[in-house]
Amino acid sequence: MVTEKERNMHKLAHLLESNAKWSQQVSETDPGFFSRLADQQAPDYLWIGCADSRVPANQIVGVDPGELFVHRNVANIVVHSDLNCMAVVQFAVEVLKVKHIIVCGHYNCGGVAAVMNNRELGLIDNWLNHIHDIRYQHLDRLEAIVDPQARCDRLCELNVITQVANVCRTTIVRDAWQRGQDLAVHGWIYGLYDGRLRDLGMCVLNTKEMEAAYVAAIKSTEGGDRVLPHVT
Ligand code: CO
Repeated sequence: MVTEKERNMHKLAHLLESNAKWSQQVSETDPGFFSRLADQQAPDYLWIGCADSRVPANQIVGVDPGELFVHRNVANIVVHSDLNCMAVVQFAVEVLKVKHIIVCGHYNCGGVAAVMNNRELGLIDNWLNHIHDIRYQHLDRLEAIVDPQARCDRLCELNVITQVANVCRTTIVRDAWQRGQDLAVHGWIYGLYDGRLRDLGMCVLNTKEMEAAYVAAIKSTEGGDRVLPHVT
């Protein structure tokens, strides 16, 4: 039998109180904020990021609610048969008409590290097999890196670049470009150590550019034991 006291302890009162304070603060600063947003959303950006609690999309780019349309999953993977992700991309591109899709990975990604270290975590291993595919595709490039942390971070970068290519290859994005819709796809990576985003140099504006952009971005990740800014 659960007592009332025990139940109250599980009611997450601190989160609800914190929400009430936040809502009040926002309303005081900008009295029309919530009523404006309630009417409609018109974000310019679709953010596809990792579910990691340390990489909150809006907060790290410093934008308010209403400015980012967000899809997050473990290790920011874009799979063409994932109805959830495809529905988000379709709605963002065709209905909201976002101008940018940002695939944002992060260094020290637990999902990527699990793959690198062959850790077994259960059902999620099936999802992370998509990262295994990328690892095997670039095995030589990765094995050439001696430092395990740098090797893992490189796989984080290769994953982002691959997912940008996956976004570009969806029928949704290809159709948008064919219609002449203004849409750019970007690959970024976030450093947990310094809170900084880095552009991986893959910004694709049309189908024709995609392949060359992918090859150039993959090449730019090379450099043996290149020391990443945060690994000191
Ligand atoms: Co992650």
